[in-house]
Amino acid sequence: MTATSVSASAKIILCGEHAVVYGQPAIAVPLSDLRTRVQIAPGSEGLTVNLTDTDEVLPDIRADHPVSQMIRLLLDTCGTPEPAATLTVRSDIPVARGMGSGAALSTAIGHALLTLVDCQMSRHKLNEMVYNIEKIYHGTPSGIDNTTIVYEQPVYFVRHQPVETFTMSGTLSLLIADTGMPSLTKAAVGDVRKLYDRDPTRIQPVLEQIGEITQQIRHAMSAGEAHRTGNLMTRNHELLRELTVSSDKLDHLVKVALAAGAKGAKLSGGGRGGNMIALVDESTQMKVERALLAAGAVRVYHTQVSG
Ligand code: PMV
Repeated sequence: MTATSVSASAKIILCGEHAVVYGQPAIAVPLSDLRTRVQIAPGSEGLTVNLTDTDEVLPDIRADHPVSQMIRLLLDTCGTPEPAATLTVRSDIPVARGMGSGAALSTAIGHALLTLVDCQMSRHKLNEMVYNIEKIYHGTPSGIDNTTIVYEQPVYFVRHQPVETFTMSGTLSLLIADTGMPSLTKAAVGDVRKLYDRDPTRIQPVLEQIGEITQQIRHAMSAGEAHRTGNLMTRNHELLRELTVSSDKLDHLVKVALAAGAKGAKLSGGGRGGNMIALVDESTQMKVERALLAAGAVRVYHTQVSG
């Protein structure tokens, strides 16, 4: 086998985060231009993994590292011994920004191993494995990250239900603005749980409204109704504020994006830090991007979502 390369994309949650943990639907989309790539070079002895972004080298697969665990899980399932090769991993996906860097790493490693040992595996099975590794990173994740990344398609996700990918009409033009602060998903999920346990009669309707909005966004996306999608996204942000997972900076960036002409804006993912997203079009993209940078976003990505 000659040197070859495989990859997996980033993802972003469009709507439904946090409520998804309580059985409500959420929608996430792949970000195909932000990727984790694995270069596979056949070797003569054992498997070495170079994680270039963190300068780590995993000289053997017995280490207690999520990458090693993914490799072992996959080799056990395929019933194959450790292959002789060097895997070199490079990623464009920022870590701890709600873009699924962990799931992308596990998925890309999975693709690399399947290529190396020539094992056939369904996406369903690969998704299950990546989910098991996600649990090491995130405790009890809903599974939306790994599902969107393994299938690399827009996903309408309901916990414990079969994966539903869907088609949308037209293209959504999204700006993703990085607050510069890590997204504290685990802490935020824990705080929502405490809030829920303290006052379920107040919080349950908020979660249900988020679920309702997510269903409406799915219809609006399928019908190509960008304005409606935008309005619903902004309403979703207000409900996430009620769940206490926003922050002053996220609220400020949302306000600034709307004032500069975005059709809708909200935080995305775990919240508290991480990213916010703004729905724009050709005529507003530059203005909203400049406004977000001037308001303190450390980076703004532009991406087109279709599918
Ligand atoms: O921060 P992210 O993009 O990994 O998303 C977390 C989404 C939550 O709904 C808050 C948690 C989950 O596991 O779905």
